[in-house]
Amino acid sequence: MWPTLTALSNEGTNMSNSDARHEAGPSDTTCGREIPRDPRLDASMGLLSEGYRFVSNLCDQLDSDIVSTRIRLREVICLRGGTAARLLYGAEGLTRVGAMPSSVLHLLQDKGSVQQLEGPAHRHRKALFLGICMDPARVEALVAEFRAAWRAALDEWEEADSIVLQQEAARVLTRAACRWAGVENQPEARLAEEIFDMIDKAGSIGPRNWLAQMRRSGTERRLRKLIEQVRAGEVVPGSATALHAIAFHREADGALLDDTVAAVELLNVLRPIVAVGRYITFTALALHRETNWRDLFRSGTLELAADFAEEVRRISPFFPFTAAVTTRPLQWEGYDLPADQWLLLDLYGTLHDARNFPDPARFRAERMLSWSGQDDCFVPQGGGEVAVTHRCPGEMITVELLKEAIRLLCLEMDYEIPPQDLGVRLNRLPAQPRSGMVLASIRRRPGTEPCVAG
Ligand code: HEM
Repeated sequence: MWPTLTALSNEGTNMSNSDARHEAGPSDTTCGREIPRDPRLDASMGLLSEGYRFVSNLCDQLDSDIVSTRIRLREVICLRGGTAARLLYGAEGLTRVGAMPSSVLHLLQDKGSVQQLEGPAHRHRKALFLGICMDPARVEALVAEFRAAWRAALDEWEEADSIVLQQEAARVLTRAACRWAGVENQPEARLAEEIFDMIDKAGSIGPRNWLAQMRRSGTERRLRKLIEQVRAGEVVPGSATALHAIAFHREADGALLDDTVAAVELLNVLRPIVAVGRYITFTALALHRETNWRDLFRSGTLELAADFAEEVRRISPFFPFTAAVTTRPLQWEGYDLPADQWLLLDLYGTLHDARNFPDPARFRAERMLSWSGQDDCFVPQGGGEVAVTHRCPGEMITVELLKEAIRLLCLEMDYEIPPQDLGVRLNRLPAQPRSGMVLASIRRRPGTEPCVAG
């Protein structure tokens, strides 16, 4: 899924903490503790201009980790920190349905997906994803496809003066994801562009978002047809593929998934694998800046590549927030949360809070973070118990792909970083280095395997 409230325009002014400073307004009065209230009638403009920093700025201004405001005239309670993460990833009485604007929902998880389910139905469907994404042997097979696709692309990159890594990583990952998932005979270049757009335009509003939604309908139509062909025996995917698992997955009542839902879930495997390309872009940026680490990896010492990858996930802006709606009145830390209340959890702010991560703006792989560490504050892909909450099932895949990207960038190729704008605007969702990370004069490093992939 993606930014969880009003979809943001890609345009905007540079954010500034002080611009949005204002006096604290009256608090919401409830039976429990008072939730400090944003005095603005509506904070949509603040969200547009402050982007990833929006919730943290408001929390800092009102000196509280829980604040209430309005976005697009809808009342919302914003929270940050590990205890808040435990609420959004663990409490009963919450749903993701109605928590995201449709412009975001349709490009990312979509209706009928695992993310829109709760309770036993959610756990049953989630088990399907755990089987696909968290089996080490399957993850290793995906990494092998990624390596092969990267090496094949390297042949082309050597011929070009320069490449934009963000685009190329999406292409490579689309190829790897399709082969691994058993999705054959798709127009790969088109699919790569369609998926890239779903991710890139999820934070836009207006024509760019609509166009991406139209393109997504075409992708879903093709995948629906593929599911039908598999069920009719006309296409036979490998038994260990995501296509096979999803096509023949049975709901708790024994029924196969509806064709449309099956296509949505297949896309829920392919799309986020391609999204890892954004982290690969930020990894290349971090390698460019953290020369000691780059030199260590280039010397062939890769034992700490996972620590590096995890710090990339912590520091790089990707998912700004996650959201939920209460289905009944809840109490949290002495605050009353009424039924049908929209909640917003600040993922980016939690990851950049000095109370959780000292000197948070500094890249420090020495923090030795890990997705498997159950740290409530380390929430780049959500938090809590993965099998029973909405925590992302793709963290193992993400980190393994990043480790392999570090190896490929440091040991299998040489390249230059030409002058370019590497600034990252925090009011552009999803964020990226402005240039997309241009690599030039790419050369395969002597002694590394030439391409054998078709
Ligand atoms: C680029 C790296 C990724 C990021 C930043 C990311 C982020 C997230 C976040 C924040 C959530 C929680 C949403 C919520 O709270 O409602 C989530 C859920 C999910 N992610 Fe990821 N993800 C990534 C990679 C992956 C991968 C590689 C896969 C699978 C191949 C995946 C599949 C899913 C699915 C199916 C859900 C819904 C889980 C549920 O509702 O129970 N993601 N992701």
